[in-house]
Amino acid sequence: MKAISLIIDNQKVSAQEGDILLWVALKNGFYIPNVCALKERAVPFAGCRLCFVEIEGYPEPVTACTETIREGMVVKTKTATVQKLQRAAFELILSTHHVNCGHCGKNKKCELQKIALHLKVRLRSKRFRLIPKNLPLDESHPLFTYDPDKCVLCGRCVWLCREQQKVGTLNFAYRGFEMLVTTFGDSLAGVANCTQCRKCVDACPVGALLFKEEQLIREEHNA
Ligand code: FES
Repeated sequence: MKAISLIIDNQKVSAQEGDILLWVALKNGFYIPNVCALKERAVPFAGCRLCFVEIEGYPEPVTACTETIREGMVVKTKTATVQKLQRAAFELILSTHHVNCGHCGKNKKCELQKIALHLKVRLRSKRFRLIPKNLPLDESHPLFTYDPDKCVLCGRCVWLCREQQKVGTLNFAYRGFEMLVTTFGDSLAGVANCTQCRKCVDACPVGALLFKEEQLIREEHNA
């Protein structure tokens, strides 16, 4: 691999040819909102649409998780256009996300809180009507809970379970607003083939998949 340099937000950065822009930016301290990207994933999902950046010479903003860096590339991560796109994508995610940070085991470690701070957007956004799914919390798995009302459909857990671990316990089901991460038969009680590798929970950027001990610690804290 050849070392090359590029400019991100007016600063020169060195990286390896072929690296993905999102990881280069994050590694060098330039935060770009993201929830669906996974380093292990060779073909990015690019589903959350949060990681827009502008690149000199490009006709329109592009997603940093799908962009391979090249020598001399000039990248802007915080222009008005970029932030407008990121805010719209973020508020759409929030429109189906059940916000109850004070009672969530992911409080202060949640990617949505980090993004809200970065974009100066309230977690209870008024721009889009809140459309909660109102689905019950599933506590049937011995290790973790699954709250579909908090899931942002980033697909990290599905990809790790299906493509990396070759288990396939978790998958997407239904379409459009009804889309869900679920298991065969829509019940975590049906997780007979789960190997308890814990990767899905570790990768969840929000509080949708939470180890039961994290949930308990939060409950004790709030008691
Ligand atoms: S991180 Fe790039 S689209 Fe989700």
